Amino acid sequence: MKISSELLHKLSLARNIVLFTGAGVSAGSGVPTFRGNNGIWKKMKPEELANFDTFINNPDLVWEWYLHRKKIMTSINPNAGHIAIMELEKYFSVVNVITQNIDNLHFRAGSKNVFELHGNIERNFCIGCKTLYSNDQLFAIIDKKNNRTPHCITCNGLIRPDVVWFGESLKENIWNGAVARVKQCDVFFSVGTSSIVYPAASLIEIARQYSAYIVEVNTESTEMSYYADECIIAKSEDFFPLLINEISITK
Ligand code: APR
Repeated sequence: MKISSELLHKLSLARNIVLFTGAGVSAGSGVPTFRGNNGIWKKMKPEELANFDTFINNPDLVWEWYLHRKKIMTSINPNAGHIAIMELEKYFSVVNVITQNIDNLHFRAGSKNVFELHGNIERNFCIGCKTLYSNDQLFAIIDKKNNRTPHCITCNGLIRPDVVWFGESLKENIWNGAVARVKQCDVFFSVGTSSIVYPAASLIEIARQYSAYIVEVNTESTEMSYYADECIIAKSEDFFPLLINEISITK
């Protein structure tokens, strides 16, 4: 794989970079993607499980799924792609990561400006009184009650993971913040996302409208490849370390 001279030129002029990331960024850490050949959603329909009505009607089922995912998260670490994305901060004045992932890996890699569009699986809250619970607090309750669905110690309401389910709105301040960053960026990387879940995917269209140079990094082309100035068919954990290497020579 070779980094194009056009991309290196655009980056040499750029101040402000946005990385819009999806599940593919964490594939190299061992987190299964949702779609594609190894996607989790091959086995279960996302809209049926990850929504509020299913949670109210069958909280044990939804918690079984999220406890399984929380378990995966405890044994994974940021990969070379996450680390290299964080290292971009050494070379550009402004770097914003806008992620659809809930796995916390960009924060754990050390990226400073992270917009988590779909929440964070390490946080939980009571749907009654909105008390926040860390995973440690949550696991203590689950162990004590010896069942799957944790209840709030203050009001006995149902506790849910702090993630955005299908049919729910994104947090307004996070979404508006992300849109504002996209409007200001010079180079926009869309990385490891199938770009089919809205409104997140519309960020690529906004980047195009505001004349950013758009680079897609994915192991295959997507619905949004059409908007990209460059489509790089590669794993993010291979591409970004290489990019950092090139930039460190030229900047
Ligand atoms: N490097 C780069 N891209 C990769 C890699 C990799 N190592 N491995 C897989 N990919 C690509 C796949 O080709 C696919 O296009 O990552 C993409 C993953 O797509 P999805 O599984 O659909 O994940 P994502 O786009 O993040 O899903 C969006 O859908 O289910 C909801 O809320 C969930 O945030 C999620 C949203």
